[in-house]
Formats: sequence, C-alpha cells, structure tokens
Amino acid sequence: MNRTSPLLRPITISGTLLNNRVFMAPMTRMRANGTECPTLLTARYYAQRATAGLIVTEATQVCAQGKGYFGTPGIYTNAQEGAWSRVVKAVHEAGGRIAMQLWHVGRISHSLNQPDGAQPVAPSAVATRRSKVSVFKNGRLQEVPCEPARELSGDEISVIVSQYAAAAERAKRAGFDFVEIHAANGYLINQFLSTNTNLRTDQYGGSLENRARFLEEIVDAVSLVIGAGRVGVRISPNGVFNDIADSEAEQMACLLAHSLNAKGIAYLHVAEPDWAGGVALTAAFRQGLRERFRNCLVFCGNFDQKSGEELLAQKVADAMAFGRLYIANPDLVTRFASGAKLNVADPSTFYFGNTKGYTDYPSLGSAEATTATA
Ligand code: PHB
Repeated sequence: MNRTSPLLRPITISGTLLNNRVFMAPMTRMRANGTECPTLLTARYYAQRATAGLIVTEATQVCAQGKGYFGTPGIYTNAQEGAWSRVVKAVHEAGGRIAMQLWHVGRISHSLNQPDGAQPVAPSAVATRRSKVSVFKNGRLQEVPCEPARELSGDEISVIVSQYAAAAERAKRAGFDFVEIHAANGYLINQFLSTNTNLRTDQYGGSLENRARFLEEIVDAVSLVIGAGRVGVRISPNGVFNDIADSEAEQMACLLAHSLNAKGIAYLHVAEPDWAGGVALTAAFRQGLRERFRNCLVFCGNFDQKSGEELLAQKVADAMAFGRLYIANPDLVTRFASGAKLNVADPSTFYFGNTKGYTDYPSLGSAEATTATA
C-alpha cells in the first residue's frame, strides 16, 4: 500500500470523518426511470464506489421546473426521497459517505421536459445558442436544441430558493451526509452569477454582489435546514459550458470563496475548465481561492493521481474530485493505493441504458478484471 499518498489521508469536515481525500465528482448518467427516481441499479453503482472519501451524486433537480434532460433524477416527491434513501443506505452499509447535488437547470431545458409543457426559465430571457438537451419524443430519445427561456419574476425567485430548502430537507431525511449546491456549468445559479446570462436590473443583477445574491440566499436557506457544516457549493470559474461567457468569472469566484467561507459551509468544490473548454485556471488563482476559503477546498478537472497529490502537498487543495476515472474504476482508491492500472471508460455508455458501462466495470480481483484492463 502506498500510504504516503496525501490523497489517502483521512479528513474531517465539520465533524464528519472521511476516509480519504479522493472524492467522486457528480456525473449525470441518465439512468433514472420516468418518475425521476434513482433505481436499485443506481444504489449498486454508488455502493460499488463507496471507498471514495465522499461521493457526490449526479445533479438532481429540486423541482419539476429544474429538469432539463430526460432521465435525470429529482428530489421533490416522496417517491424520489424514498428511492434516494435506498441509495444512501447502500453507500453507508458499504462504509461510504455521500452528498446529494441539488440542481435547477434554468434555461438549459425544453418544454418537453417542463411541467405542463411550460417555457423554461432563467434570470434573463437570453437564449443559449449551442446547448442541447435530451427529450423523449415519438417513442425515442433525441437531442434537441434548448428553447428560449423567459425571465423569472422576483416572487418566482423566492419560490425557487424555498424549493432548494425543501429539497435539502428531503435529502436530510433520506440520510445524506452533505448536500452540494450546483452553481456550476451554466445551469440556473451559474446563469445568475454570469455577466452574459444575467441582465437583470433588480437586486439580483448588476454588481458582483447582486449576481451572487441568488446563490447566497440558497446557501442560507439550505443551511437553516441542514446546517452550514453540511453544505458544499460547486462553482466553475472560467467555464464556458452551456454558453457561459462571464467577463468577471475570477472576481466572482473570489467573492464567493470569501462570502461562503464566512457562512461556514463545509466545502467549496471547483470544477476547472477541461472537458467543456474555457481558460485554464492558474496556480495564482487557485492560491487566491485557498487564501479566501479555509474549510475543505476541492478541485476537479483534468487531474490524475500525481497532479492531484501535488495540489494537496502544496496545501492548495484539501481533497480532489475525479469524474471520468470514477466511471470506469469503482475501486479507484484501491488502485491509487496500489499503483494498479486503471480501466478505461467507454463514452458510448456514459448516458442512458442500464448495467452496461454503469455497474459492470470490474474492481481489482474480480473475475472480469483482466479482460477490462487488457
Ligand atoms: C450534463 O448532463 O451534460 C451535465 C449535467 C451537469 C453538469 C454538467 C453536465 O454539471
């Protein structure tokens, strides 16, 4: 065992002991059924990965309006809450810890994925030019361009804030160790944060502080329910996914690192531009976040074991999250510890389907191990 790896050292976040600093990043897998409930297969998928220090679930809509893609799960009905509690139980029984990622897609949607075929909503009526979503139409799954969104009223914004709190209440009842507020990758909260998608002239638009207000209200509302020490926030400074073009992305990230630190949240999770493009984060910028955010700081991007260990050794990061590596390597922690070869992920099974490319990647020592790494 490679016990010297800083990734394998335990960490305590707000009183919760995590066995190591290898986090599983949130990843959309679109295997929920038509009721937006995670299945028993989902429970198996996450339980297989329970040696991660912390699993962050796939993005999960906090209300029907928050849905953008066919096949993603929700956390706003009793059935969804019950189904998620089975997932949490399976992970806990396997010795793991799990955070639920709370999501509202905003303009990244289509009326076919909205309640009563409604128009998608956003901070401002700014259409995305390139983004597509999956819909179920004419008996088959299809990728279609997003539809133009309409601007949210102030009252509607308050309702959405309370829907995040209600979702956190459900996540708490389902047994989750943490909730992670998804403020990244061009979805609703990121649309409020970003200069090109937020053209509002009320208290939610204009200055950095005003654009941050929606996220901060959500963090406060969710913290009241579950405790700030159980809340993580994920941001994606410089990310351009879903047509984000934020002229003040780094300033906003610094402001948030400071204000979220003051709120005492458990962790700040930084999704770096990699698979979806954007100007790379510099070491100086990461250091700036470190100086502002003192609790657990997590980075995720194009890192491998070695580059992840470097950020930990420099004390810039407290933990590292891995996405694609976790799709194909349920026992990633064991492989890091032993230096074993990694399985390679098959992108054709990232979304939809059932067991193939989901629960059938082998762990070391399992019958299929030799063939999958050959
Ligand atoms: C996606 O479904 O493509 C997706 C969802 C959430 C993310 C990023 C991508 O944060």
